[in-house]
Amino acid sequence: MNSPNSFGNAYSFMTFGESHGAYIGVVLDGIKPGLPIDTDAIQHDLNRRKPGQSSVTTPRNEPDQAQIVSGIYNGKTTGTPICILIKNQDQRSHDYGDIAEILRPGHASHTYLQKYGVFDYRGGGRASGRETALRVAAGAIAKQLLAQRGVSVIGFTRQVGNVQSDVSTDNVNVSAIEGNIVRAPDAASAEKMIAVIHAAQADGDSVGGVVEVVVKGCPAGLGEPIYHKLDADLAHALMTLGAIKGFEIGNGFDSVLLRGSENNDPYYKDEHGNFRTTTNKAGGVVGGISNGEDIVVRIAVKPASSITKAVQTANRSGEMVDFKVEGRHDPCICPRVVPVAEAMVALVLLDHVLLQERIAATSAAEQVQQKLATIDAEMQLLAMQKKLYEDELSALQQ
Ligand SMILES: Cc1cc2nc3c(=O)[nH]c(=O)nc-3n(C[C@H](O)[C@H](O)[C@H](O)COP(=O)(O)O)c2cc1C
Repeated sequence: MNSPNSFGNAYSFMTFGESHGAYIGVVLDGIKPGLPIDTDAIQHDLNRRKPGQSSVTTPRNEPDQAQIVSGIYNGKTTGTPICILIKNQDQRSHDYGDIAEILRPGHASHTYLQKYGVFDYRGGGRASGRETALRVAAGAIAKQLLAQRGVSVIGFTRQVGNVQSDVSTDNVNVSAIEGNIVRAPDAASAEKMIAVIHAAQADGDSVGGVVEVVVKGCPAGLGEPIYHKLDADLAHALMTLGAIKGFEIGNGFDSVLLRGSENNDPYYKDEHGNFRTTTNKAGGVVGGISNGEDIVVRIAVKPASSITKAVQTANRSGEMVDFKVEGRHDPCICPRVVPVAEAMVALVLLDHVLLQERIAATSAAEQVQQKLATIDAEMQLLAMQKKLYEDELSALQQ
């Protein structure tokens, strides 16, 4: 197993830090020198994830200012590891003081205690959503490197509670999504979703939802056939996020309702000579490899565990106690999960793009090697013929 704090192969990163430490940070590796990077775009995505954005997110004040301490100089990559630090500025550890002894329902306190024997209960420690700021920073760079290859990654909130947007994946656009606080693809659904969130909030409660990510312009051929299928890697990447309880690609769980004749995506050749499919039930991946159609994935986001509504739960001594959260938390985390999910999808895709480019480069190198080997063999043959003629000549001259 790679380090459990690392992710990726050709484009890899490692994160460190906890929600209530001084800093959190990420170190990225595997990026060629000389590539232009827009550092404002990194901050833009961090701002989309940060708390305190609107009435449907936690009012905690964390500016999430990225400090790029290495690897980017004068707006270009240097080829050395990129390190980004984010200072934790709003550490109200006292908000959590009286919960040190309580096994918080829906949070990782009990499981961390079982695993490590200790737990930094302040804000969830490593299990906190705060760590995802680092993935957003890493993903913002990945998105730029993908954009340089014509690939874009767009996330949005498809559903909150029982309110679902029916905007087609083909018609989602970033300005509509970013034009409302819940990041729904249309204003009418957004209004209903916000009402559901405010109603839960008024009860001291929370609601879940579905976040969808669409990849446009993805080339065919990304993904490995068995253990690193593109869809398997996407599922893994998204399931590494807190609060994610389900993953589907394309028609996903709905495909069980269809017959093969309805669920298969028939092929045709387009005007550019590319093979396309008339439908996209597969969600852009067949046999673990991208087929050139849009990649469409969805994740189920559970209702945030931290709620101000009182519940009964056990403390570490096994006594049942009344418990409610006094800190400041999100009534629905979908709007903040959107940029994080985009980042994870971008990180997986870029990793596979770079692996594929290596394969292509290897086969080009192999072709040249084969040509050189052919020339070597021909030269050996000529040398042998030359020796034969030389022997023949010396025999004739004697
Ligand atoms: C971006 C993001 C923000 C989150 N914010 C909160 C939050 O404010 N309150 C909360 O209870 N859980 C929040 N979570 C989820 C918890 O981290 C998660 O539920 C918890 O660690 C338990 O893990 P599990 O739900 O995957 O089992 C957030 C997750 C993400 C990805």
